[in-house]
Order: sequence, then C-alpha cells, then structure tokens
Amino acid sequence: MKQEADYRAQLEQLSLEDKATLLTGANFWNTAKVSDVNEILLSDGPSGIRKQTEGGDALGLTGSVETIAFPCLALIASTFDKDLLRKYGEYLGQIAKAEKVNVLLGPGMNIKRSPLAGRNFEYLSEDPFLTAELAIQYINGVESQGIGTSPKHFAANNRENERFTSSSNIQPRALHEIYLSAFKRVVEEAQPATIMNSYNKVNHVLVVENEYLLTDLLRSQWNYDGLVVSDWGAVKDRVKSLRAGLDLEMPGQPDYSIPQVVEAVRSGKLDEALVDRSVLRLLKLIDKYTLEGEAPNYNKDNYHEFARTIAAQSIVLLQNEDNILPLKDESSKAVIGAFAKHPRYQAGGSSKVNAYKVVTPFDALKEVYGDFAYADGYEFENLDANQQLIDEAVEAAKGKDEVILFAGFPENVESEGFDKTSIVLPDNQVALIDAIAKVNPNIVVVLQNGSVVATPWRHQVKGLVETYLAGEAVGEATADVLSGKVNPSGKLAETFPERIQDTPSYLTFNRSTEEENYMEGIFVGYRYYATKDLPVAFPFGHGLSYTDFEYTDSKVNVDNDKDQIQIDVTVKNVGSVQGAEVVQVYLQNRASNIEMAARELKAFERVELEAGESKTVSLVIPFERLKWYNPQTDLWQIDNGDYTVHIGSSVNDIHTHHDFEITSIDEPPIQLSLDSSLKDIIDLQDTLSKEIDEFGFDEMIHKMTSEPNLRVLAEPAPIRMLVMFGLKLSDLVKFVEKCNVRLKTGE
Ligand code: BGC
Repeated sequence: MKQEADYRAQLEQLSLEDKATLLTGANFWNTAKVSDVNEILLSDGPSGIRKQTEGGDALGLTGSVETIAFPCLALIASTFDKDLLRKYGEYLGQIAKAEKVNVLLGPGMNIKRSPLAGRNFEYLSEDPFLTAELAIQYINGVESQGIGTSPKHFAANNRENERFTSSSNIQPRALHEIYLSAFKRVVEEAQPATIMNSYNKVNHVLVVENEYLLTDLLRSQWNYDGLVVSDWGAVKDRVKSLRAGLDLEMPGQPDYSIPQVVEAVRSGKLDEALVDRSVLRLLKLIDKYTLEGEAPNYNKDNYHEFARTIAAQSIVLLQNEDNILPLKDESSKAVIGAFAKHPRYQAGGSSKVNAYKVVTPFDALKEVYGDFAYADGYEFENLDANQQLIDEAVEAAKGKDEVILFAGFPENVESEGFDKTSIVLPDNQVALIDAIAKVNPNIVVVLQNGSVVATPWRHQVKGLVETYLAGEAVGEATADVLSGKVNPSGKLAETFPERIQDTPSYLTFNRSTEEENYMEGIFVGYRYYATKDLPVAFPFGHGLSYTDFEYTDSKVNVDNDKDQIQIDVTVKNVGSVQGAEVVQVYLQNRASNIEMAARELKAFERVELEAGESKTVSLVIPFERLKWYNPQTDLWQIDNGDYTVHIGSSVNDIHTHHDFEITSIDEPPIQLSLDSSLKDIIDLQDTLSKEIDEFGFDEMIHKMTSEPNLRVLAEPAPIRMLVMFGLKLSDLVKFVEKCNVRLKTGE
C-alpha cells in the first residue's frame, strides 16, 4: 500500500506538461497515460455497463459492448431494499471488472424535483434520505469489487432543458437539506472513487467553477478525498475550474486545455500547488482502481436472472380492485398494447446499454399462459388515436376474463437531454383504455415509463402495475408479478400526483431558459403534499401486495444517552401467501421555530414474512438525522422539544404514531435583545424575577397575562415597543443587559 510520501515522490517526477496532461482526459473515456502512470477507463452507468468499443458519445448513439441491461434506478429504488442495492452494486462491479472498466459512472442521485424532469428514470427518488441510503449501498457494492463509482450529478441539476447553462437558484436550506444532503452522506459514509459534477450553475455560478461546492463543502467540510470529474463537456474555462476544485476534465481537450493550464501556471495566474493537488488525487485513484490480472468471465445468463429478480422485486402494484391480480391460470386473456411486444426497458441517452437478451412481456406471458388474444392498440410514432387499431383491440378484449393492457411513455417523449411537457399518457393510449373499459371492466394496466404518469383513467380499470423501465428481463419480471410467482413488494420512491398542476415546482419549472427558481424550498415531493394535506393519485411509499400486513405493539424509546430513537413494531402477514412489507418511519418536527415538513422519511426496513408469520422490526433514528440546516448560522442543528414519529406503509397510510420529546441537546444560553418578544420575558419570569421587579415590569406582566385579549396582542410585541406604555428606551436597554447577565451566568 503506497503512502502519501510515495505519491508525492511520483508527483515530483512529473513535469508541468505531464501534470496538465494527466488532468485532461486522453479521449472520450480514458485518462492519459504519462510515463509510469497508467491510464484508466471510465464508462456509463448507471444501470449496466456502456463500454464503447470505438468512437465515443455521451448519448448512447454508437455501439457498445453487449451486456446486461438492468432496470433503471427509478424502478430499483422502489425496492426500498438496502441489501438488494448492495448486491446489485456487486453485480455491476463484477461486470465492470470483466469488461476492464475502472470507474462506473453512477449512481444517479439527482433529486426528482419535478415529474417532468427528463432524466428522472436514472435517479432514485424525490427524497434525499432514501436516495442516500440506497446510493450508499450501490456504491459500496460496486467498490467492493475494486471498481470505482461516480455518483452524479453534483449538484442541483434537476432539469434537462438548457442543462448546460441554466442556473438553479436555491435558498441555502433547501440546497443543503434537499439537494446536497444525499451527496454529503455518500461522501461521508461511502467515500466513492469520484464524484461527477453537473453541467448547470448553482446560484449563478457554474458547478465546475463553483469553489464553494467543489472545495469548501466537498473537501473542507465533508472531507472528500476522491476525485472530482467533470460531466462530459461541462468544462468551459479549464483554469477557473481547476482553481475551483474540478480535478479531471472529461472528455479531455488536450490541444486546448493542456497549454492553457501550463501557460496559467507559468504566468502566475494559477498556483501550481492547485495542479499538484488534483494530480495527487488522480494518482491515488489510478493506483487504487487499476485492475490486475486477466479479466474474469461472467455468465450473462446468471446476470440476466439477477436483472429479472431485481425487477420483479421492485415492480409496484398500485391498484388491485377485486383482487384481479394475480391472474388466474384458467381465465381467458387478452394482451393489448404494442409495449407488450416492443417493451421500453431502458431509456435513451448515456445510460443506454447494448442489451444481452431482451425478453418481451408478450413472450414471457406466452410461456406462462400459452395462447391469448393480442392486439397492438396504438403506434409509437403517431400518438393520435388510431381507430382501426383501437377497434381491433376492443374485439380482442371483448368477453375475455382478463385484459392485460400495456401502456406508457414512448421513448421519443422521454429521454436524457430534454424535459417532458406533460405527465399524461399519449392520446392514442388514453383512447384505447377508454374504449376497452367500455366493453370489459376486468382490465389490468401495466405501465412502462421512466417517471410519473397521471392516471385519471385508473377508475376505469381494476389493476394497475408500475414497471418503469424494467431492464432486459422486463418480460419475465412482469409475468412473475402478474402471475403471482413473485408477490409484489415495491413501494413508490416518488409521489404520483393527480395532475402536473398540483406539483410543488409547477409554477417555476422550466419557466425560464436561464433561471430555474426553486421557490418551493424544502417542500419537494411528498413533503409538500403531506404538509398541505393535498390528495394525490398514489402517495410516496405506496405499493400493494397479494397479502395483507398488520402492525401491532409499536414502541418508541428516546435514548438521550445514546442520542438515538429506537422504534420497535411488530408486523404480521395476515394473508395466505408469503410477502414483503416496507415499514416506513416519518418524522414530524414540532420543536423547531421554523417551517418544517409534516413528514420526513427517517428510517425504513423491508421485512419478508411467510403467511401467518410475524416479526418485530427494530429501527433506529440517530439524533443526527433530526438535524435541519440553519441558514443564519450555516450549521446543521437539532432542537430540544416535541416530535412525532408516524409509522406506516406509505406517507399517507400511517398505522400508528408516537409523540416524544428530546431534552438532551446542549443549547447555548438564551439571550434577549430589544427585539425579543414580551412572551419571551413572560416565559422567563421566574428566572428573571429580580430584574422584572427592579424595573417595575411585574405589574405590566400581571396585567397582560390576566387579560386574554391584551395578552394576544401584547405577547408577540418586541420589548422595545414598551415605549408605547411610557417606558424609556434607555431603561429597556439596561433591562435587557441585566437579564442577559443573569441568563448567561445564573447570577
Ligand atoms: C451525462 C453523464 C454521462 C456522460 C458520459 C453526460 O452527458 O450527463 O451522466 O455519464 O455524459 O456519457
């Protein structure tokens, strides 16, 4: 194992040109090979390995090696299963090793601020806690195989339109609590090999040139010691970006960037120490992630099976009226919808891999059920209703016991590089659902889409299954869930609102080409709906099962010594089949004197239960997770006071709640000012009785507290307003000074 001194010695051997060369990618995917420093290969992610064999592009346009297309992260997040994410990471790491890829460009961690954001399929959740918990496992899994990761895109890149130039304008609290906190946690708890910056600006400064984000936060506060890599093509001014803390430029622009860096150092515009700082980070990365020996083989069929398992376990059963699912073996069936034969199993853009073996739902259902009626129902190119196709589908569906109708967003309306303009299904599909519902009520809609879909038609159908983009085993995984071979246990990692107009960022999202104003602040996703108590189509955390669960014996114990809250709850499978439930714990902070969301996910645990079985699930919330970001002090803080935990199966399906109090946080002594309210004095009247007497305020306090009408008016008024009652400002100043001495010293 090399020591710091060894890397420094290696650095000493390099000329300024060598160093500038190393910090500039040699081509689209490789770092430069300079004297004895190896090159390394970076490849997309995040849902498979997109290793390009010739040429390079960031949009998945030209070919790449054949490999397993795993489900998109939007689907995988729905497992809420940390162990599975870890295993998924290990599988990805093994494939990367077999393909001699040193750094896998993932996971995608952007927060889903709007359902319209074009790349939501690649990201985990609208919730930073869930994002962090799952991303940490993904990263640890990949890195356990000796492969580096690149959590992306740091930071606050929440739309695709003008993603290279627009400014995400965010107040500090939302920035830290919602958009940065998951990155902070992965850095502190998983130390990924690299972090990929995003293209956009944050508060008007390009992220690649943002010293606050790349150095003050990432390095000084979070102690990150890996490498910051640019998103592909993000660098505008190489010297500025290097100074801010962007280490590696990808893809490199050797003829442009190398001379610029060399010249800047020679002319004194750039401190060579900053170049050295980045080179040292790169040397360490290369040393740690260089692969030794022969690349192992991997059996693609086994990995395909894993893609099937992970997809089936993630699929979300949104609705199941009259227990229409699982499908009955003996029933007559119609399968409708072109997606059944031409599934959308991955999205367009840089995450698109060259799939090994795509199994369609049509073929997989054939395998299970033999013959059934089939009709396309719609086209992908022309989104207007096609009456002939609809008529054929209606004919196929008529009189059948079960209609399985595939619907979703065609690729041309949903991809990297642009945002969606609507969450409504294309007209031809809505018309199809409507027409079929008129002849047959027994419909199960199976959705294939990268992100949230509006479901106003859901009352016309009985079953609704969300499969997102399920990867190359889409067919088998879908059939596993529909047939009941796998009992669904996925839970939505994002809210499905009724309408796009209901979403918290609706008024501002994509309204300007340059400025994206995050006016909703911390109220993103379910934080908004839960706080406003607004109806949604399907809430965050929602997902049904073919069995039922009962929650009993919940207990909450606040351990002020260990600074944690322990929650125990017994979950019983009261149905007749094996199943899995995700116990979710949401916190309501009633202690802090600042706006808070009515629910914040703080713990969750997936539990598998045989029919009739019960287990006690224990969850721990360290006090640390109760912190909020105080923009006045620029510090995270916890408050003593009252809290409630809500335990449930979704943010809206709460089975039980417990109030508790935290008392053990050391707080600085209270200090008054002329702006402190009269209520503050009233609350402290026992402690400050001497000063109150001395200045003759006792009578006034008595009067105010004994007359309710007066009390309501007076309590919020600042101390300085007592001049209205004839008191002198000079006396009030002295009073405050004396009170503060007592409050500080107790004397
Ligand atoms: C994307 C990244 C990707 C890179 C390389 C960029 O356009 O934003 O996520 O890793 O291209 O393909």
